[in-house]
Amino acid sequence: MTDNGHQRPGLFVTFEGLDGSGKTTQAALLAQRLRAQGWDVAETAEPGGTRLGAAIRALLLETDGAPVSPTAEMLLFFAARAQNVDEIIVPALQAGKAVVCDRFSDSSLAYQGAGRELGESVVLDLDRIACRGLLPDLTILLDIEPEVGLRRASGGPVLDRMHGESAGFHRRVRDAYLRLAEREPRRFRVIAAAGSIAEVGARVWEAAAAELAARVHRV
Ligand SMILES: Nc1ncnc2c1ncn2[C@@H]1O[C@H](COP(=O)(O)OP(=O)(O)O)[C@@H](O)[C@H]1O
Ligand SMILES: [Mg+2]
Repeated sequence: MTDNGHQRPGLFVTFEGLDGSGKTTQAALLAQRLRAQGWDVAETAEPGGTRLGAAIRALLLETDGAPVSPTAEMLLFFAARAQNVDEIIVPALQAGKAVVCDRFSDSSLAYQGAGRELGESVVLDLDRIACRGLLPDLTILLDIEPEVGLRRASGGPVLDRMHGESAGFHRRVRDAYLRLAEREPRRFRVIAAAGSIAEVGARVWEAAAAELAARVHRV
């Protein structure tokens, strides 16, 4: 993935991080704050942000413990992503809207590339097909200790299929996220996910406000 240099309109923000890091909570808060600033905001999520994506998500949750091939899983996530890109994200950006997306391609790099050890290059190949160079303007990585995230998330309504994975899996995912952030410091902001929802929300808004201010200067 390469930096798109802001050649297109709109604002594309993605949230990344382990389960329970607060992505869904903070994505909704950021959308609210952007609306308060006058932005028209489209909120979406992966894999379930479209009708097809919701069906793919249900498929992945419905295997009754039957093993899912890591490659099949990766392709299903990218099928959901391609639908999200074509149906929601690109049209909204072309209309000048802000898009706030709960997980995007960095999730595949971290979970399938590193967690499932499929490697980065196959994930990047699929990203080129599904996203065709579309890259977030800002990626908020909510960084959390895996144990803390899993404890938070298991109190939630949905038991995610990644919850049953080993500690090593979650450590690989977290480390991969941090490496991605180091590699693309302009796009990523690593935000400590510890603290109250309001405290984390203030850190997220600070990062978003800085990006908005920088864009004004770049125009
Ligand atoms: N900063 C926080 N402190 C404590 N609990 C939180 C915080 N942020 C979110 N939660 C709660 O933790 C659970 C997981 O949060 P969620 O936003 O769904 O995380 P994710 O989407 O990253 O899995 C939810 O029940 C949510 O209300
Ligand atoms: Mg969530």
